[in-house]
Amino acid sequence: SIERNTVTVASDFVVVSNRLPVDRTDDENEPWRRSPGGLVTAVDPVMRSNNGAWVGWPGQADVELDPFEFDGLQLVPVMLTADDVQLYYEGFSNDTIWPLYHDVIATPTYHRTWWDAYVKVNTRFAEAASRHAAEGATVWVHDYQLQLVPKLLRELRPDLTIGYFHHIPFPAYGLYAQLPWRRQVLEGLLGADVIGFQRVADAGNFARAVRRQLGFDTKAGAISVPTPDGGVRTAVARAYPISIDAAEYEDLAKRPDVRARAEEIRTSLGNPKAILLGVDRLDYTKGIRHRLKAYGELLADGRLSVHDVILVQVASPSRERVQTYMELRDEIELTVGRINGDADELGYSAIQYLHNSYPREEMVALFLAADVMLVTALRDGMNLVAKEYVASRVDGGGALVLSEFTGAADELTQAIKVNPHDITGVKDAIMQAIDMPQKEKDRRMRALRRRVRENDVAKWSERFLSDLNAARKEHP
Ligand code: G6P
Repeated sequence: SIERNTVTVASDFVVVSNRLPVDRTDDENEPWRRSPGGLVTAVDPVMRSNNGAWVGWPGQADVELDPFEFDGLQLVPVMLTADDVQLYYEGFSNDTIWPLYHDVIATPTYHRTWWDAYVKVNTRFAEAASRHAAEGATVWVHDYQLQLVPKLLRELRPDLTIGYFHHIPFPAYGLYAQLPWRRQVLEGLLGADVIGFQRVADAGNFARAVRRQLGFDTKAGAISVPTPDGGVRTAVARAYPISIDAAEYEDLAKRPDVRARAEEIRTSLGNPKAILLGVDRLDYTKGIRHRLKAYGELLADGRLSVHDVILVQVASPSRERVQTYMELRDEIELTVGRINGDADELGYSAIQYLHNSYPREEMVALFLAADVMLVTALRDGMNLVAKEYVASRVDGGGALVLSEFTGAADELTQAIKVNPHDITGVKDAIMQAIDMPQKEKDRRMRALRRRVRENDVAKWSERFLSDLNAARKEHP
């Protein structure tokens, strides 16, 4: 269905997400760059095995493009104006919904103009999806930026089977209830036949909000939704924990050049006894400051020494025009500077801080080089970095310190669990990971790796799409 650069025929399978898997850049030599975040990591392999069209924003304002093929994927760009970026993306999506749904770690801002832009842009995405979906097609909508699309799309195209997956947490009702547009958002989501969440707790929070706000019956994940013609349809709301393409990470970790690069990284860091690693988008949900505080105290207490240990913190740039993110960056960079200033000696540095993002090969080399992976998120839908680290440790080495406030904690039970708010506990967990006997490390890592391998991203999408397929059969 592809005619050189243009998609000419509607697809039977359409994915809709705010971001396309690649972002447009201003660099002539590299006009497209892989987009950040867990959503793209997970959905990309699904698209490759389903051969559909991917509707999304190319990551820059005012870029108007026809559908095109890129790296084997059919991409359908949706244009956002500079105003849309400011009000719908930076505003409502990332300064209202994001902080509210992550348990108000940062204070959500409620602006009616942002909501209006959210409605307008969601309508645009629904129309684009509708244009590119064949009769009776399956459309899979993704994430919190597009919560109104399922309902809007159902109104435009009752013939479609519509799925929605929520990549971030769905908050407890007491917090959700703050949202001035709480009913509209629930109604938007309920336009889908299957509404997927990361954790059982998220699906439960959603069902409770539906009962409290709309009074609909919810039984074991089946929600009875009244239809405009006076009937009732069922929407399924359950947990489908997302994952990664584990085999791809294993293959990368076995590649001689990647292993050599891991050695090179260790050498360049002075071959310390222990390399600690943090890899996050620079986001206040990730608990980067809590991690730095714990590590800084261990150095100050003399429980760790800069001669033996180094922390590599990769913080990839994210949402840089949102005020809360600017403030976070300042705080983190101040903290890094202070800790290094206090702990460093000539030739020895406590923290290597990298405000950058890297290709997957480089990340896997870093995972292989790191003795301890620190995932200390205050709240995280899943946290795929934890799974990437585990999948990459084909050598059986390494230890994972994992926050209990991540979706991944439900599955990765052999990790060293922490409450990131408990700094003393985080310090002890770091020491436990560093001092853990090799045998115990091996045993834990083997169990973790099995878990990730058995529940990879293919299994995630199969489970979701098979429930969606079951819903299709109930279509009149
Ligand atoms: C998280 C969200 C995604 C988002 C990604 C990157 O993984 O769940 O929807 O795309 O972060 O954030 P950004 O705002 O750059 O798209």
